Amino acid sequence: MSGTGAAPAGADLVIRGALLLDGSGEAPVTGDLAVSGDRITGLGDLARTVGTREIEAAGRALAPGFIDVHTHDDRLLLADPDMKAKTSQGVTSVVVGNCGISLAPLRSKALPPPPFDLLADAPEYCFAGIGEYFAALDAAPPATNAVALVGHSVLRHDTMDSLDRPANDREIAQMRDLMAEAMDEGAIGMSSGLFYPPARAAATAEVMGVAEALTAGDGIYTAHIRDESEHVLDAIEEAAAIARHADVQVIISHHKCAGAANHGRSVETLALIDKLRSEQRLGLDLYPYVAGSSVLLAELTRDAARVLITWSRAMPEAAGRDLADIAAEMGVDQIEASARLQPAGAAYFMMDEGDVRRIMSHEATMIGSDGLPTDVHPHPRLWGTFPRVLGHYAREEGVLSLADAVRRMTGLPAAEFGLKDRGLLRPGAFADLVLFDPETVADRATFDEPLRTAAGIDAVFVNGEAVWTDGAATGARPGRAIRRSETNRGR
Ligand code: ZN
Ligand code: CU
Repeated sequence: MSGTGAAPAGADLVIRGALLLDGSGEAPVTGDLAVSGDRITGLGDLARTVGTREIEAAGRALAPGFIDVHTHDDRLLLADPDMKAKTSQGVTSVVVGNCGISLAPLRSKALPPPPFDLLADAPEYCFAGIGEYFAALDAAPPATNAVALVGHSVLRHDTMDSLDRPANDREIAQMRDLMAEAMDEGAIGMSSGLFYPPARAAATAEVMGVAEALTAGDGIYTAHIRDESEHVLDAIEEAAAIARHADVQVIISHHKCAGAANHGRSVETLALIDKLRSEQRLGLDLYPYVAGSSVLLAELTRDAARVLITWSRAMPEAAGRDLADIAAEMGVDQIEASARLQPAGAAYFMMDEGDVRRIMSHEATMIGSDGLPTDVHPHPRLWGTFPRVLGHYAREEGVLSLADAVRRMTGLPAAEFGLKDRGLLRPGAFADLVLFDPETVADRATFDEPLRTAAGIDAVFVNGEAVWTDGAATGARPGRAIRRSETNRGR
């Protein structure tokens, strides 16, 4: 790294003496960084640069803003544009539309079935096209940047009269047309959630047919795979085959081996992932917890050692309580108790710590929160994912180096998703930045107290503007809705 030259220069902001973690995974160096407008304009020794505003950052780490590759923030971006759950962790960009569900394109008045209620509970929050969704974000910008996927389950809902069967050729063609239109309007790709009831009946060939719409624009395909427990290997193979058919990149979402019988099997899944990666573009993401979370489903309670209710419309007071206790009070089994709580959501303790660490350590694994912002008592991943990786897993447990942990939140996801000029500290890149204390950064959100903000995040900048400082949102909303044409997928 070098300075910007001999002549004294001005900048809007100079951050001095920080430990620069540039997002590449390289060992950090101490240096200065200058910002003017929305870009990084200098990096290295900037003794001759004068900032309108200066921050002395000795002892602090400075990194590219974190990219949350797996979110369900589609509605949050509009409903709570300060995005505090994310900016408080250092997140500056989010990928929405995962797990087969997105707010667009939805032309029908009827809401899609669960798990769509993880996103929104009213039809007025939906959009006929992704272009309209982007326009709403342009009109009322949030604090973070966003890129959008379109959910396959939503395409099914909008195209088919019944979701419990495979789509016919005409319906597949209609979904493909809708997906192609969404790509033209700026979606970066498609997600599927073949595990979930609205898409469970979809044949592999159906998803292949719809995914053909991704080929021309080099869209990305993210997969909540059909089975994350006993048949996890088959399900990874299926997602990979869909991507091969369409000649696109695939991301295995929130990779896990669920259920005690499958603990330890990440040895097998990662070996399969390595083999597939030698043949095609395939990546993966993970949240750093042994519990998952979703809507309340009997199939998921079966695999879980403990089930924590995160919301229930039938019994709101159940949020934050164990399903086992609720069932005991009701004098029924957990299946019956689940039925009485519907519609509802839950966190499921179903993973093995060794698997979480093994998957986290895989060279291709990105960090994605999968946080559920509409939940009353959410899984703590919503507020804690990124500081937990930096504090607990990197600093305390040594599972990753700090530089490698940052890479998995910045440079790697920017490259995988094609986010142009983001994810690295480089002159000319967008000034999405997080300044944090590497000695104290930590998640404080827990399963008992899930809404606690992280420790050690000093300041967060999006496109050059501060969005989080001194433990609070600044109120600035400089985030951008990033269309595919503005990414490296703009072909
Ligand atoms: Zn999912
Ligand atoms: Cu998800």
